[in-house]
Amino acid sequence: MKNSAAWQKLLVHRDAVVSQHMRDLFAADPQRFSRLSLQLDGMLIDYSKHRVTGETMALLFELAREARVAERAAAMVSGEKINSTENRAALHTALRNRANAPVMLDGHDVMPDINRVLAHMGRFSDAVRSGAWLGHTGKPITDIVNIGIGGSDLGPHMVCEALRPYGHPRLTAHFVSNVDASHLFDTLKRITPESTLFIIASKTFTTQETLANAHTARRWFLRNADDAAIAKHFVAVSTNASAVGEFGIDTANMFEFWDWVGGRYSLWSAIGLSIMLFIGPERFGELLVGAHEMDRHFLSAPAEKNAPLILALLGLWYNNFLGAESHAVIPYDQHMHRLPAYLQQLDMESNGKAVTRDGKAVDGATGPIVWGEPGTNSQHAFFQLLHQGTRLVPVDFIAAIRPHHREGEHQTMLLANCLAQSQALMRGKTAAEAHAEMLAQGLSMEAIGALLPHKVFSGNRPSTTILLDELTPRILGMLIALYEHKVFAQGILWNVNSFDQWGVELGKQLAGRILGDLQGESIVGEHDVSTASLIDHVRSRRTK
Ligand code: F6P
Repeated sequence: MKNSAAWQKLLVHRDAVVSQHMRDLFAADPQRFSRLSLQLDGMLIDYSKHRVTGETMALLFELAREARVAERAAAMVSGEKINSTENRAALHTALRNRANAPVMLDGHDVMPDINRVLAHMGRFSDAVRSGAWLGHTGKPITDIVNIGIGGSDLGPHMVCEALRPYGHPRLTAHFVSNVDASHLFDTLKRITPESTLFIIASKTFTTQETLANAHTARRWFLRNADDAAIAKHFVAVSTNASAVGEFGIDTANMFEFWDWVGGRYSLWSAIGLSIMLFIGPERFGELLVGAHEMDRHFLSAPAEKNAPLILALLGLWYNNFLGAESHAVIPYDQHMHRLPAYLQQLDMESNGKAVTRDGKAVDGATGPIVWGEPGTNSQHAFFQLLHQGTRLVPVDFIAAIRPHHREGEHQTMLLANCLAQSQALMRGKTAAEAHAEMLAQGLSMEAIGALLPHKVFSGNRPSTTILLDELTPRILGMLIALYEHKVFAQGILWNVNSFDQWGVELGKQLAGRILGDLQGESIVGEHDVSTASLIDHVRSRRTK
């Protein structure tokens, strides 16, 4: 990436602008907000509080043109096998292709299959929601337990939480992911088998954690029922029909998807069954509509108005030119509390790569560390570091303007806090301002002198504010797709394959070996002395 012409120009440009303060940029340009913000249908994106000038943005757009981001996006949605290390397409956009235009993969239109599975999901969801689908003792379903991990958990879980106000009043959605059995047992304590539906969600149906939880859940269920009852209480979502059959779930109760759906891009597929059950097929359709609208925007808007591309370029600017190592996402919305966790997988599993698409070492930083927690709680936890720490952390603030509740005063306080944080990060507080403030409080000159260094805020700390009109299924769909395409565009800019995840494999292999040594008569595996001693310690202590 560093040898591109635009990159070299950006390096020179960085030295010219690095010392500019955003306060001065705002003072010099009353049009800064209108120039550096975007309005989509139901979503405002303000990126004026970034350390960029018109020239920075122009050079970043030049970089995107050089990297051919637009061409690569077109290749992705048209079914090219852009996931080269697994020889797979990445066609999550087809899952929400509400225009229903054919999408060809290996000479075959994938849309009829997508529509068939959506219809299957719809019939099943309607039956469960209406109460027509009964458990084996004749009771309607009250609890849905999604057993899955990674992409088979984070997306559906995040969306069900975010869209809680749209949930069916009889249904509670639970998510069990951790192989720590406490996760499953804590959930089982809250439900009764007769009115519970388990969804075993696993693309591969080989994931250790999911299969262990699924087997334990089935044993729990069969304590008071026989095998014939399984069909009313267990369904599967997978690409692996034979493994589903071996587990004992009738493949008639399996909702299929395909290897061209990446795990972290799968909530739009049958992996979203828990979402559809919870909010209903119509609302699920609206989620898809929102994502489709963002797809069309990403594919057709010019670079200068292209929201995912702009967010990608801003992220790259801090990551590669201003030394930022992480990126915080702060939803000012309690229902969006799982969004940072969801984005961690989306971003870090996609772009946490150190080799280029053609297998060479990358020549600069790639994916940032993504983290965050909802506001206002996070203000009272880690915002001190964001305001006065030594690290540069770009922040995304996300808030919905209209709440689903009627406590308008709470909402106004929430929004005021959200806007205040981005303002404080940008403006900071100068020594003169801090001095005047303390003088007005009646502090002595001596006290002012001692406190002054602690009361100064450097400011010039960047953030994007994304304001949603309301957290509806459609607007949430837009928001998720916005981040998906941001991550995609960054992958292209860094020239990495955003659709594989080989880095997860080594830990899985080693866990298998260590499992054998923890279970066996003696330690047979070859381990470093630290790991061997830890295994030994566990073996010696666990029987007590
Ligand atoms: O952690 C690796 C991973 O393969 C993720 O990409 C995926 O979302 C998760 O495991 C779960 O995989 P599966 O759906 O096959 O159980």
